[in-house]
Amino acid sequence: MLQNKKIILAITGGIAAYKCAHLVRLLVKQGASVKVVLSASAAQFVTPQTLSVLSKNEVIQDFFDANFNWNNHVHLAEWADLMLVAPLTANSLAKMASGTCDNILLAVYFSMRGKVFVAPAMDLEMYRHATVKENLNKLEALGHYVIPAESGELASGLSGEGRMAEPENIVHFIENNLKQGMPFAGKKVLITAGPTHEAIDPVRFIGNRSSGKMGMALAETLAAQGAEVCVVLGPSVLQSANKNIQIVRVESADEMYAAVMQRYAGQHLVICSAAVADYKPAQVATSKMKKKAETFELALTKNPDILAKLGETKENQFLVGFALETENLLENAGQKLKNKNLDLIVANAANEPGVGFGHDTNAVSVIDQHNNVFKFELKSKADIALELVNLVALKMKVKG
Ligand code: C5P
Repeated sequence: MLQNKKIILAITGGIAAYKCAHLVRLLVKQGASVKVVLSASAAQFVTPQTLSVLSKNEVIQDFFDANFNWNNHVHLAEWADLMLVAPLTANSLAKMASGTCDNILLAVYFSMRGKVFVAPAMDLEMYRHATVKENLNKLEALGHYVIPAESGELASGLSGEGRMAEPENIVHFIENNLKQGMPFAGKKVLITAGPTHEAIDPVRFIGNRSSGKMGMALAETLAAQGAEVCVVLGPSVLQSANKNIQIVRVESADEMYAAVMQRYAGQHLVICSAAVADYKPAQVATSKMKKKAETFELALTKNPDILAKLGETKENQFLVGFALETENLLENAGQKLKNKNLDLIVANAANEPGVGFGHDTNAVSVIDQHNNVFKFELKSKADIALELVNLVALKMKVKG
């Protein structure tokens, strides 16, 4: 959820500021770009040097930096997707709620167009105070999100509500918030991708040129739209840094079949983009086969058709297949949609430049159950994935 998100972390002067070093680290680990704005009193609790090293960005502390360059608060706010004020003291809260703008941190806040999250941190009586409550309500009324303080030991020695939420809980709160309203929030998606390798002996196999790029592009797009994605991936060098993408690596069609069947129940969407070998050697030699006669015959036996099985046993899953064809593209793909009981099929011409296996680009036609055809012209696999996902979202909504 936080991958490539641009975040301003505004730190105001409370003891919980010491936890912000860890908070910055967590945000960066999730793939976010973080710029820290530090109030003068916060700098007494945590050093700008620490925050700068961890965020990999200069820390902003005043309208002018050490070289008298102006820190443009408007540009900073425009840069950010979201702002997090943590810890938020009663003093800064009161200023935010009343429109007081007497430092760079507040100037950035008042310039923000993106979402604003605040994590208050105060002592017991302060956090309970009617004026503080009223100010927090004001921020909520403005559409900001208050990450509730937690209960426990306070710096004063008292015990109760007022501790800044733990950094992990702050990150979790923001991630959940960003997921809401996304088309695939709360949806489970299973994708098959890549080739399969069918062993002949311990060193040889029958394979194909599929790279897995299309399936992984779909996984990234769906995860970015809130889905929890599992990719059953045949032999491929591809990987993902996205926490919402689980990759299950398999070799053969049989392994892919087992991995998919084990996970089928409970999925909302299943996309089979893998290039599964139709046949496998009838017998796998246990030691390396020796070169002997001039000719060599290999007996093959049929692999399970994973997608056909999914179609047969379909409950509520929305099922999408791929069809790679060299001739009669739409006719053959349409036939597969019916035979395999699919909701959509993505037809790929195997013999067009820049299309299909291994390329970074693709061009596809998508057929639905009513024989409507949607054409997506040649573009990057990431862009094709976005168009496909948008179409799937629309169709899933209609199906309910
Ligand atoms: O090979 P075929 O053209 O029938 O592939 C169409 C679709 O079926 C693809 O989505 C592919 O991933 C899937 N398939 C499968 N298991 C197979 C063969 C194909 O899941 N053994």
